[in-house]
Amino acid sequence: MKTDLPQSFNRLKYLPPYYTLSQVELDIALDPARTIVKSRLEVLPGPNHEAGLPLVLQGQELEFVSLRINGEAHRQFELTPLTLTIHALPHDGCQAFSVEIICVCIPEKNTSLMGLYVSNGNFFTQCEAEGFRKITYFLDRPDVMARYRVILRAREAEYPVLLSNGNLLSTEKLANGWHTAIWEDPFPKPAYLFALVAGKLECIEETITTSSGAKKLLQIWVESHDLKKTRHAMDSLIASIYWDEKRYGLELDLERFMIVAVGDFNMGAMENKGLNIFNTKYVLAQAETATDADFANIESVVAHEYFHNWTGNRVTCRDWFQLSLKEGLTVFRDQEFSADQMGSESGRAVKRIEDVRLLRQLQFPEDAGPMAHPIRPDEYQEINNFYTVTVYEKGAEVVRMYQTLLGREGFRKGMDLYFKRHDGQAVTCEDFLMAMADANGCDLEQFKNWYGQAGTPTVSVVESYNAAKKEYQVTVTQHPPANVKNKDTKLFHIPLAMRLLTPAGDQQESLLELTQESQTWTFPDVETRPVLSINRNFSAPIKLDFDQSEADLLTLFSSDDDAFNRWEAGQKLAMQMILQGRLPDAALISAYRDLLMDPALDPAFKDLALTLPAETYLYEQCVSVDPQKIYVARRAFRKAIARELRMEWASLYQQMQTPGPFNPDAASAGKRALKNLALSMLLEADPLIWSPMAVNQYRNADNMTDRYAALAALVIQGSSSAVACLEDFYAHFADDPLVIDKWFSLQASRPPVTDAVATLSDVRRLQGHEAFRMNNPNRVRSVIHAFCMNNPASFHQMDGSGYAFWAESVLALDAINPQVAARLARGLDRWKQFAQPYQSLMRAALERVAESETLSADVKEVILKALG
Ligand code: ARG
Ligand code: ZN
Repeated sequence: MKTDLPQSFNRLKYLPPYYTLSQVELDIALDPARTIVKSRLEVLPGPNHEAGLPLVLQGQELEFVSLRINGEAHRQFELTPLTLTIHALPHDGCQAFSVEIICVCIPEKNTSLMGLYVSNGNFFTQCEAEGFRKITYFLDRPDVMARYRVILRAREAEYPVLLSNGNLLSTEKLANGWHTAIWEDPFPKPAYLFALVAGKLECIEETITTSSGAKKLLQIWVESHDLKKTRHAMDSLIASIYWDEKRYGLELDLERFMIVAVGDFNMGAMENKGLNIFNTKYVLAQAETATDADFANIESVVAHEYFHNWTGNRVTCRDWFQLSLKEGLTVFRDQEFSADQMGSESGRAVKRIEDVRLLRQLQFPEDAGPMAHPIRPDEYQEINNFYTVTVYEKGAEVVRMYQTLLGREGFRKGMDLYFKRHDGQAVTCEDFLMAMADANGCDLEQFKNWYGQAGTPTVSVVESYNAAKKEYQVTVTQHPPANVKNKDTKLFHIPLAMRLLTPAGDQQESLLELTQESQTWTFPDVETRPVLSINRNFSAPIKLDFDQSEADLLTLFSSDDDAFNRWEAGQKLAMQMILQGRLPDAALISAYRDLLMDPALDPAFKDLALTLPAETYLYEQCVSVDPQKIYVARRAFRKAIARELRMEWASLYQQMQTPGPFNPDAASAGKRALKNLALSMLLEADPLIWSPMAVNQYRNADNMTDRYAALAALVIQGSSSAVACLEDFYAHFADDPLVIDKWFSLQASRPPVTDAVATLSDVRRLQGHEAFRMNNPNRVRSVIHAFCMNNPASFHQMDGSGYAFWAESVLALDAINPQVAARLARGLDRWKQFAQPYQSLMRAALERVAESETLSADVKEVILKALG
């Protein structure tokens, strides 16, 4: 039977819809136990229509009540657990007709947090990717776009605020204590961008004037006690709006733009048209309760969701395989925004380093593991499993490469053409690439391969210098990722920014475009043997295989003018030594010392330069991972840096104090970061001497960054003062869930102090704590995910106890919230990379989960791919 349901989730099997919608009217009577949804859909034959085809709507966990077609009761339909199929349509479905459906859903029982659900007594929705079908029967696919008019009804005393997308047309009080609000969204949209919110909320608001001179109302809605924590989010929103006008000529298109915060949320936030819904974690901040990292994350997530208004909403995705079209592009936009907000060139570099660190720590392992997929996947079982670091962060790297190849102006021309061609449409990644190519009159055919191939390519570099001819040659070769290599593997178009560093400083930066398997470039008139700085600013998301001497790396670390590569050289030196079980030698210590004491360098850069590569990034360099060995080697290396540079840490701790009122700006945050690194190094070197100073900082801090950093340093050292400080912290912040999440996650991610088993028993104790909630994603992530995914040395135990806990937790969570469970299920992805006995123990844990007969599609896909 031909239907608008996907035949299978395969990219190449896309078919345009048989039916489409022009207008949607929803009348929703909100009741936690029984919400009645009446819908009226204006249906039209779609681009792929054939006479006589039934209309197949999707619906999930709904109670069907009634169906009318063109106003008449209609009985020719079939219901299955996932569909409503309507036969015998008027005029064989060849002309417009209306469908009216009444159905019921139960928000208070909805723990999946997809569709309509209740959080702390208020109603919220999450419809991306396929949640709208849990609210009513619908053509729930992004290429079906319609205008929405929504009537919300609820008891006024319990739900005084009623919000939906677009503009508020009218409100009315009804006789029985109920009230209504009518909302209309002027822009056609797919169902995944629908939202409603109802409950006891209050807002701060601001009116701004945008580039065309129009006045816009901005609101941030939260529970009343959180109003005082909304200023930073509002400032971030206003900055984002002006930035998008300035950088891309994109103006806010609505009269009203709202952000709502909710404490129960699966992800970070959601870009519903005009009504963004956010995890409270990415809205609420004030100095006493939020760290500098929280402030920065809020700024970037607010910007991300706002930027979706154009890249995602005005131009959306044709199907979910194209997710990176909106996500990769929007992450790139939020990264660039945050970089500009840093306020300096060195700040931009710091932001770039942080983004690359995240990519390599999380996306590289994904790209090398069983869930590896291209940024535009070809196949999926559960789309929610594809909101990944690959689609988002690697997708952003691919977008960044257009800008590197075309220049900022060329990139802007491509963006302009993209909107000119596709405003109001649901399009594909290829449409974006063609806009970039056509606007710049260039051929991007080979560049397409970044969309279709998984895995991180390796680029090897061989250099030679001919002193007699004064000639330098570099040969660069690309190697397809080993895990996805087959006979059809295509070559990538790889932009490599490079510069030859010479004492005279006479060589300029240039861009090598590697398009063949191997290419050689020759540089004449190079007076002395240069040091090569390549893949500057991480111009391509690749692994570099370049056997550069420690002396050259030290030169780069002390003097590369590209801050990213300067940092990179230090990381590489440290990484090599740690993996060889060495301690930092005198030359490296002295390079660290010079860098730390250089008054011209940005403190935030110093902090990153002295932060060692993460354990999970070190794993990626090994054939057979021994997690305990890596932990011990890395920790010893860190202790050596702490001890050798005692004097420097002590003096930085004094120098980096930030007197005066707290300011979350990048410059102050950078100083705090370096000061707190110094504190933790001092405790690492001489815990007995410095613990009292940490306790002092803990007690007297006027902001969460400093208070938390001091507490963390004490907890990590297993200091005897840690227990009392933890108790004090809990008592002080007991009524602030986001701060209590920090309290949980700090304990669950504590590395082994004396014996690692202690952390698991701590985690079990934390799970029994009165404030632990298995159905709140933030709380679960701060305990279970923190332990299993953020605390490798405690998790990977030789007796397999960590893995047993993991299996138990995946199964328990799956019954409540498949998305949160599936994320945790990813925790054993890389099991094949580990040494024994870890590998076999992990496999046994995976098999134990696989045996369950009630697995969600989400968890099943992850586990079976891991075992496959
Ligand atoms: N589009 C949202 C964002 O990136 C993410 C929503 C994903 N939600 C989900 N349930 N998979 O901003
Ligand atoms: Zn997004």
